[in-house]
Amino acid sequence: MAQQNFETGPKPFAGYQLSKVPASDDTLTRVGPGTPCGELMRRYWQPVAMTKMVKDRPLRTVILGEELVVFRDGSGRYAVMHLHCSHRGASLEYGRVTQHGIQCCYHGWHYDIDGRIRETPGEPSRSTIKGEISHGAYPAIERHGLVFAYMGPPDKRPPFPDFDTLNLPDVELAPYAIHHPCNWLQVHENLMDPVHAVFLHAKMGNVQFTAAWGEEPVTEWGEIDGRAVFYVATRRVGSKVWVRFNEVLVPNFGQVGGFWAGADEVMFSRVGATRWTVPGEDNSCWIFGYRHFSEELERGGAGKKELVGYESQDMYGQTGDRAYEEMQSNPGDWEVMVSQRPTAVHALENLGHSDLGVSMLRGQLRRAVESASRDQPPPLALAPEGKITPSWTTNTIYELPAPAGGDDLDLRRRIGRMVVAEVVAAKEFDPAKRVPALKEALAGIPARALGGEEPAVPCRFVSL
Ligand code: FES
Ligand SMILES: [Fe+2]
Repeated sequence: MAQQNFETGPKPFAGYQLSKVPASDDTLTRVGPGTPCGELMRRYWQPVAMTKMVKDRPLRTVILGEELVVFRDGSGRYAVMHLHCSHRGASLEYGRVTQHGIQCCYHGWHYDIDGRIRETPGEPSRSTIKGEISHGAYPAIERHGLVFAYMGPPDKRPPFPDFDTLNLPDVELAPYAIHHPCNWLQVHENLMDPVHAVFLHAKMGNVQFTAAWGEEPVTEWGEIDGRAVFYVATRRVGSKVWVRFNEVLVPNFGQVGGFWAGADEVMFSRVGATRWTVPGEDNSCWIFGYRHFSEELERGGAGKKELVGYESQDMYGQTGDRAYEEMQSNPGDWEVMVSQRPTAVHALENLGHSDLGVSMLRGQLRRAVESASRDQPPPLALAPEGKITPSWTTNTIYELPAPAGGDDLDLRRRIGRMVVAEVVAAKEFDPAKRVPALKEALAGIPARALGGEEPAVPCRFVSL
């Protein structure tokens, strides 16, 4: 998989030969209007701000390469509109929010939140502009403290992705937003790179989360239906087996399991974070997401809800506001992702076996981009509007001492696969029934694996 090849093998002092930096992979990284990946992204609801960021004044932002203004009008409706006034382009960030929309400060043109013009007060009564012009606007809704917009073709608007993990009883969602001065893809693909968790978060320096992260897992990746890539990483932590099954969905959605290896067994414990990596400009992006808090998820007691919010998260190393000295001595996810260049250059990478998840993610995304360019429907499996969409990410911890006198790699591989197989095959979507049913099914897995059962594989697996 590695790319570099000096015909006769590696060369010493190859700086000169390697000094040219090729172009980035525009098909996957450029997201402005009319670009292939930008058009794919526009076929999905995308978060564009935290509600906390939308105060009394309009919020100026850039999403998918478009300059936008986000506000909440006097009747409580969220609006996402083009920034520049349709009259002569003054920025609506200086506009006045009204009961029913926004009024440009320059000549008072008044827009409703759907972009229709309510008034053009400087125009004489014979003016017909009001009935002829629309201002660019997008449908917007609020969910759990994030504002989402649909920026695609109006006739192709999908249902809102109301995932099961956003509807669990006893789980509190804490919204957050973190800006990254780099392209969206390198931030998103970190989610399918479980190998970095062992090194960056544990072995290379300080233990950033818990010591369990430094245990090397049995890792496998897989794809489902052209719309999901997942990994299952199964670690031995003392007498416990910790199965982490994480998913990403086309194009920029991902969930990760609970962060803390607890002291107790847990079955079908759900996610530590749900997130979308949303492009801003080509070389910047936002993570908008929710940290999840519940008694079960926080058995280790390390999560800190009060630290989750705008440019703030309770996991070490997720933001760029630490002192440079600390960043160098104990770098976190933010430093490694942002430092892969403003847009990572794929042509310069030398991918290894451990990058299989990244390769799969890019391949799946490329196929989705190509199919959207041919005007095919994007890969999507959402429940109808108002219904809950199931997701898979699952954290499971078993009390299962290591077998005497041998490694348990094969046992862990089978356990990991069985967890994936059970969760993906479950047909019950109502969380009130699905959660207890899967807790029970997952509890039975160690006995089956110890008995030598080979799991039914519901999807394609690739092993490290
Ligand atoms: S530029 Fe906005 S009303 Fe004239
Ligand atoms: Fe990480």
